Amino acid sequence: MKDNALILGIESSCDETAAAIICGRKILSEEVASSANIHAKFGGVVPEIASRAHTDVVDEVVKSAIQKAGISKGELDAVAVTYGAGLLGALLVGLSFAKSFAYSLSIPLIGVNHIRGHLAAAYLEDDSLKPPFVTLLASGGHTAILLVKSETEYKALGGTLDDAVGESFDKVARLLDLPYPGGPHIEALAREGKANIPLPQMLKGEAGYRFSYSGLKTAVMNFVHTKKQKGEPFSKADLACSFQHAAIDVLVEKTLEAAEEFHLSTVTAAGGVAANGYLRSLLQEKCAKRGLKLVLPALKHCTDNAAMIAAEGSIQFRAGNFSPLSLNAEAYIPI
Ligand code: KG4
Ligand code: ZN
Repeated sequence: MKDNALILGIESSCDETAAAIICGRKILSEEVASSANIHAKFGGVVPEIASRAHTDVVDEVVKSAIQKAGISKGELDAVAVTYGAGLLGALLVGLSFAKSFAYSLSIPLIGVNHIRGHLAAAYLEDDSLKPPFVTLLASGGHTAILLVKSETEYKALGGTLDDAVGESFDKVARLLDLPYPGGPHIEALAREGKANIPLPQMLKGEAGYRFSYSGLKTAVMNFVHTKKQKGEPFSKADLACSFQHAAIDVLVEKTLEAAEEFHLSTVTAAGGVAANGYLRSLLQEKCAKRGLKLVLPALKHCTDNAAMIAAEGSIQFRAGNFSPLSLNAEAYIPI
């Protein structure tokens, strides 16, 4: 299979309708339409609204990606599309579109696991990136440390025992009356504060690649309720900053431990929380100190996007892994 195949990637697992075209590891175009501003009013993604929004724009988004790439649709080698995990109705819009598009062009359909897409984003950042390496996966639904053995083989070294780290950012944001998704708002508020409120750094310093976020969320909740009950003022910025430190320090610590234990000299990160500036600078600082190579996806490729789906599609294309047109959307799939 050719290395420089032209792959169209389509992503519609949540509130973003995205299409991108890549050639090898080069991005030719990226288009995205988001319904996030509508969901923000409801404090979270409303599945039916997301599905309708995808239906309204998917054809335009794909058409525009093809135009901006300066290619004709007849030149495409395959269509890669997220088939899970995600909101079923939302996934079905992108998947159905991708199936008919691939069928009409007589090119292969490649169903992509959304999380594998996130993991593949790092390849778009660095042409020379090659497994083996350690990846920190930190998104709204996942928190794990993975050993990437080859482009298609992963081993999960461990993960969260309860909430995902992104989920805890969203829940704490809600508690502080910040809009959804909470991560970027907590980060912005944290920049104005100090990490001076003691919060539990769950499982930090303990052996094993395990994380726990529900206790941290409860500690933040208790802090806010106690202050409110006593009528004592508190700094939301300090709380955001203290929470951010407690949530992220442990992720970075265990990622570096994994690199050391498995004698790997390269580290990558993936998922929405990998867009966090504090996490990025801490990883940069610690990796530099230990002489490790760090590959962080561009900010726009940490959160949901179609270039990462095309990147994973390209890996599957080279491996000859194609999907039947009977492929169904899945709400939950393992990595
Ligand atoms: O990977 P993603 O876009 O979606 C999936 O879960 O697949 O991740 C979304 C999560 C949300 O929980 C969001 O609050 C978090 O990533 N996030 C951030 C930041 N940007 C997005 N968390 C912390 N800091 C950020 N800058
Ligand atoms: Zn995602």
